[in-house]
Amino acid sequence: MPPMQARIERSDQWRALADHHRAVRRLHLRELFASEPDRGHAFRSEAVGLSVDYSKNRVTAETMRLLVALAERSGLRDRTDAMFRGERINVTEDRAVLHVALRAPRGASIVVDGLNVVPAVHDVLDRMAAFSESVRSGGWRGATGQTIRAVVNVGIGGSDLGPAMAYDALRAFGAPSLVVRFVSNIDGTDIHNALHDLDPASTLFIISSKTFTTIETLTNAGTARRWLVDALGPDAVARHFVAVSTNAAEVAAFGIDTANMFEFWDWVGGRYSYDSAIGLSLMVAIGAANFRAMLDGFHAMDEHFRSAPLAENLPVLLALLGIWYGNFFGASSHAVLPYSQALARFPAYLQQLDMESNGKSVDLAGRTMRIDTGPVVWGQPGTNGQHAFYQLLHQGTRLVPADFIAFANPDHPSLTTHHDLLLANCLAQTQALAFGKTAAEVRAEGVERRLVAHRTFPGNHPTTTIVADRLDPRTLGALVALYEHKIFVQGTIWGVNSFDQWGVELGKVLARRIEPEITALDPAPPSHDSSTNALLADLRARRVR
Ligand code: F6P
Repeated sequence: MPPMQARIERSDQWRALADHHRAVRRLHLRELFASEPDRGHAFRSEAVGLSVDYSKNRVTAETMRLLVALAERSGLRDRTDAMFRGERINVTEDRAVLHVALRAPRGASIVVDGLNVVPAVHDVLDRMAAFSESVRSGGWRGATGQTIRAVVNVGIGGSDLGPAMAYDALRAFGAPSLVVRFVSNIDGTDIHNALHDLDPASTLFIISSKTFTTIETLTNAGTARRWLVDALGPDAVARHFVAVSTNAAEVAAFGIDTANMFEFWDWVGGRYSYDSAIGLSLMVAIGAANFRAMLDGFHAMDEHFRSAPLAENLPVLLALLGIWYGNFFGASSHAVLPYSQALARFPAYLQQLDMESNGKSVDLAGRTMRIDTGPVVWGQPGTNGQHAFYQLLHQGTRLVPADFIAFANPDHPSLTTHHDLLLANCLAQTQALAFGKTAAEVRAEGVERRLVAHRTFPGNHPTTTIVADRLDPRTLGALVALYEHKIFVQGTIWGVNSFDQWGVELGKVLARRIEPEITALDPAPPSHDSSTNALLADLRARRVR
């Protein structure tokens, strides 16, 4: 365990922020913009093709100075260096945290336990590239000699959300003739829907699991294997199943030849893994060159994060704004609103990345936190969200800071009119959220007196807008790395371990205990709490035998 650090909330820097918060918390964005005509340029930073406009946040130059001082105080620089050096900063699992090595260029050196891991990363990338190209070109054939027309990734959590999100995001770069599907849920409907119209002879399964012990993935993989074997016989498995895992023994035990296994390592956290072999389905879909362009984007953001001054450092800025609202204004959630249908799954991806990382209530030394940690992350693509939950953002009682993400150019150039309207909506929403509409303005429009309060928009709702040229592989890599490092910075400031996830274990153990009680014809007397006993009895009684 690391040496016991003083709690961050006891630091002078935290107290200075608390004092400052008392002084500025009532300032309205209308006043801030009126007093600083250049605010739109002053509160903005750019890197790796992404520009971040944070001027519509409830901050002054002094706020940012104090927040940066807090980051300095937290030892962020040292911890960042320790991560990039391959130190075992995941102390509760005694592991290095090296997703940055997954996108390090050939020739770089990152040493773990005396071994430079970068050559192994590139060996696996080369194998993935050869395999992907062979599937895409028709060189890799199914057991009956058919080319592969459908790829089904079976995985869950980090072994699903990343490749599924990125596949949607980069679909415009994909091979149009290839069907790519993702199965994650243990609910049989998921695999049923994925397989019902596929032909086993031309379907390839990629079983993706870091541990290869995850019940959802093994259950779905078993069903997939039965589906295939029923149609083509047991010898077909070798041509229709490959695995991505760190656990060769379990892959072999499942019946997949380890020659068809793509490896990654325990220093890659599941939710930080889609740029490892876990991205194999994505690479098959978009090709190795696009996958490598995505890795370049990740790496460029890694370098920016490692070297840029904190006050201009994009992940640091996003992290500090999150701390400002979460810890000082008491905001408990954070919305991510991509104005991009291709990023529809990005909020769900970020939910795991952020909430599994920083949903912690003890610090690195095991002490109970006395300040809040990670927020509830949620969102939907614009403009859909506008017709659903934006009402609460505009006129609700809660403070919900939000990130808006926009691309100057459309995914489909023939649909520019759609894109113009999309962008106009994005800008309009951040404007309305920031500045609102006063009662005086509403009255001046001649609105009936009794309706004035209802039609007033208080404004002062903070937003950050991230803009890029277009959603391409490199931009996606940069965007994901931006959020990965944001989460790291926040975890460092709070002093939590962002790289373990013990909180998911208890439910898994209890489910294993309950499962036989659902299926047994003659179950043992109920042994749970009275609610669980009653629910179990109710479900058993309702089941058709
Ligand atoms: O249950 C949570 C979790 O451990 C995630 O952290 C992980 O991404 C997911 O399950 C899947 O794990 P695996 O890749 O080992 O199947």
